[in-house]
Amino acid sequence: MLLDEVVAWLACRPGGRYVDCTVGRGGHAERILEVIGPDGLLVGIDRDEDAIRAAGERLRRFGERVRLIGGNFSGLREHLGSVGLPAVDGILFDLGVSSPQLDSAERGFSFSQDGPLDMRMDRREPRTAADLVNGLPERELADLLYHYGEERFSRRIARAIVAARATAPLRTTFELVSVIRSAVPGAYRHGRLHCATRTFQALRIAINRELESLEGALRDAADLLAPGGRLCVIAFHSLEDRIAKQAIRAMAGGPEPRLRSLTKKPVTPSERECGENPRARSAKMRVAERLPARRAA
Ligand SMILES: C[S@@+](CC[C@H](N)C(=O)[O-])C[C@H]1O[C@@H](n2cnc3c(N)ncnc32)[C@H](O)[C@@H]1O
Repeated sequence: MLLDEVVAWLACRPGGRYVDCTVGRGGHAERILEVIGPDGLLVGIDRDEDAIRAAGERLRRFGERVRLIGGNFSGLREHLGSVGLPAVDGILFDLGVSSPQLDSAERGFSFSQDGPLDMRMDRREPRTAADLVNGLPERELADLLYHYGEERFSRRIARAIVAARATAPLRTTFELVSVIRSAVPGAYRHGRLHCATRTFQALRIAINRELESLEGALRDAADLLAPGGRLCVIAFHSLEDRIAKQAIRAMAGGPEPRLRSLTKKPVTPSERECGENPRARSAKMRVAERLPARRAA
């Protein structure tokens, strides 16, 4: 998604050093590697082992020019330290869940395929979506759906989940979808947006603690950029986009700004890309450039 835009806004150049904090299957990474040529270096990070494996296969032809790291981008500083890179020319965050994660029923991210209620990006983590759905008190569940899913029927859905799990724990995505369906009004059930979209988003954000690590990682990223280096953040929902926008704004202001925002309005995919890939419709990319450190007077 936004492949050409990412390469252009990151100002990728031959011989440059770049970090893809969410390498996924390596789509962006591959395009960046093609541009930076034989003297460039790309570090790709992902917390999903399947993604690191798939990226490794796709990017094998680039040999030593690519380093893949399985881990959370909250450890960005340490990850770059481990490959001996104190500063880089560009850092990309393409946030959220990937198409392979969504398309794989057994990962439990999708409300349109039946699978276990899992939703962990990193399957070494102990807690699954089923643990939240079956374990949280009703009030906490409702708050979670409201805050992370912006779900206006959060209370009704939480009440229905608690009633259903009193009979038997909810184990699968389709069991949860059926409880949601039974809880929401008819118009919402048949609306444009699938009635489980927001609940699934909320559970996924909570189980992967997606918002907690983002702001800190963006601050670390700004520190790790060489002067003139670029930061690109692609978000798919308003909660992430708000964090990116506010973090960039905070670092671009104050007496010692570290960044200059380059996108007053977020960059969005072309009509053509949205036609080819409906998920693109919600993508928003924000870009900032690292300022040189101010010299002491
Ligand atoms: C939208 S996909 C990226 C797709 C990728 N740009 C490509 O071209 O294939 C997001 C990826 O980020 C990973 N991810 C999400 N949060 C992460 C985090 N905190 N640390 C590391 N990886 C993360 C997910 O596992 C997923 O593979």
